[in-house]
Order: sequence, then structure tokens, then C-alpha cells
Amino acid sequence: MIASAPGKIILFGEHAVVYGKRALVAAVNLRCRVEVKKSQNYLISSPLGKTGLDFKVHPYISFAIRRFHEVKKIEGVEVKVDSDIPIASGLGSSAAVAVATIKALDAEFETSLSDRDIFEMAKQVEIDVQGTSSGIDPFVATYGGAWIFPERKKVDIKQKFFLINLGQKSTAKMVSAVCQLRSKYPEIIDKIFDAIDFLVCEAARCNDLEKLEELISINQSLLRAIGVSTPEIDEKIAKLEREGFKAKITGAGGGGCIYGIVKDRIPEGSLVVEVSYDGAKIEDS
Ligand code: PMV
Repeated sequence: MIASAPGKIILFGEHAVVYGKRALVAAVNLRCRVEVKKSQNYLISSPLGKTGLDFKVHPYISFAIRRFHEVKKIEGVEVKVDSDIPIASGLGSSAAVAVATIKALDAEFETSLSDRDIFEMAKQVEIDVQGTSSGIDPFVATYGGAWIFPERKKVDIKQKFFLINLGQKSTAKMVSAVCQLRSKYPEIIDKIFDAIDFLVCEAARCNDLEKLEELISINQSLLRAIGVSTPEIDEKIAKLEREGFKAKITGAGGGGCIYGIVKDRIPEGSLVVEVSYDGAKIEDS
């Protein structure tokens, strides 16, 4: 059985969403496909290597299988991953692989899980691996489309986005760095999160691209203030601004992707994506 799930970009509100604030997120047309087959053993093959159940090399798939055992005991399974989503770049590759694995296991072992069950299990997998998760990535990987989260309010987004990948990062490390900064300066950081929350509301009802770009710049400055930008990201964004573009981090920061709105042209070396309304689904094999 083959299942797939989309990657995503967080347009506004990453990190603040971990503390219950709102974020604007959209699934994009990059997908992760996972094939599962009943077997006597566990075998996982992906661009990261070939392993058995391995919580270091394949943590999201291994924990997804472990969590699936709570629904149905299985003796083994072969898992093959093929993904368009760059790994550890803020595009939700981990959530997409967890969601697609659970969706494929559900179909292969006929457990009739609902989308809600799949989302909850994938969120649990993120917590198993990362220690914490707002659930935003597994949510959008399960349902597709564009949303204000955690309210789960649908948003219609027509514009395309450019992405520039500045290398891999660790979500867990960045989330923990923000947590430490917040315990040191709770009033300051919480005020920044409040500002991000307002910004998300403003962005969700805004159809003016110039204004959205302004909000992109403000959100990026606030992300810089909570320590998740890097000199490399700052320099790249400054260079883009000299060329007339606005951009911000999408996801945890510390590396990963930056994004901006596609208008009449795109920056050199960028990848263009659009919102995908397809959530997790079974593919024809
Ligand atoms: O894993 P990433 O880079 O897509 O970031 C996830 C978004 C965070 O807000 C940083 C963490 C979370 O669980 O919401």
C-alpha cells in the first residue's frame, strides 16, 4: 500500500504556536510517499539508509510503527520512502513521513483510522521524537490546505511562494533554545508571541501583497528577536531585500528554508511552490 502526505510552509507564527498562539500554515505541492508491505521483519529504506526499526536513523517512521502497535499488533513491515520534501528544512518532511506511514499502515492492516486518529497519532510521534510539538505540522500533513492553527479555521490562499533552502537544522534544538530564552525573559518573549499572534490575524484577512510582504518582514524581525535566525539567514534576507524581495524563515529556523511571495519575478536559485489542498491519501500502486 502506498500513501502520501504533503509538506508545508508556516507563513506566519512558528514558535509562538508552541505556546498556544495562532499560526498561519499551508500544505504545499511537495509530497512524501511511503510504501508499506506486510512482512515477518522490519525493514525501512529511505534516502537516509536501510535499517530495521531504528529510533536514531529513522525516528519518525520507527515511532510511527511503535504507536501503530497500540491499534494493532504487527509482526513486521517493509517501509519504503520516496520524498520531494527536503529533509530538516522547515518544510514538514518529518510530519509528512509520519502521517504517510500511519496512513499506509492503516490501509495495509485494515484498521479504519479516521483522519483525526492519524493526526493525533502523528502528533504523538512528533512528541516522542522531539519532546514537544504544537501539532501544526502533522495537522496540515493530514488535512492539506491552508489553516489558522490551533483554531483550525480554513483560509483561502491563491498566491505562489518562492523557497530558498539554507541547509539543515534541528527543530528540537531551536524549540528548546526558545524555551530557555523564554524562561530567562518571560515578559519580553511573551509580548513578542502576542505580537506574532496579532500579526497572524492581520495576515489571514489581508489580500494586499505589499502589506503581506510588510508582515513577512515584521515576523522575520520578531523571529530574529527570539534567536532563531542566523547570520547566514540575515545576510541572505538583506541581499534579497536589496533585490526588491521580502522573505522570512519558515519553520523552526537556525537554518532551513526562507520563503517569500511570488510576484512578477523570483530570486535566482529559488523553488516555487503553491498551496496543495490534498491531505494524506492512498496512492494507486
Ligand atoms: O519542524 P519545522 O521546522 O517545520 O518547525 C515546526 C514549527 C515550530 O513552531 C518551530 C514547532 C512546532 O511544533 O510548532
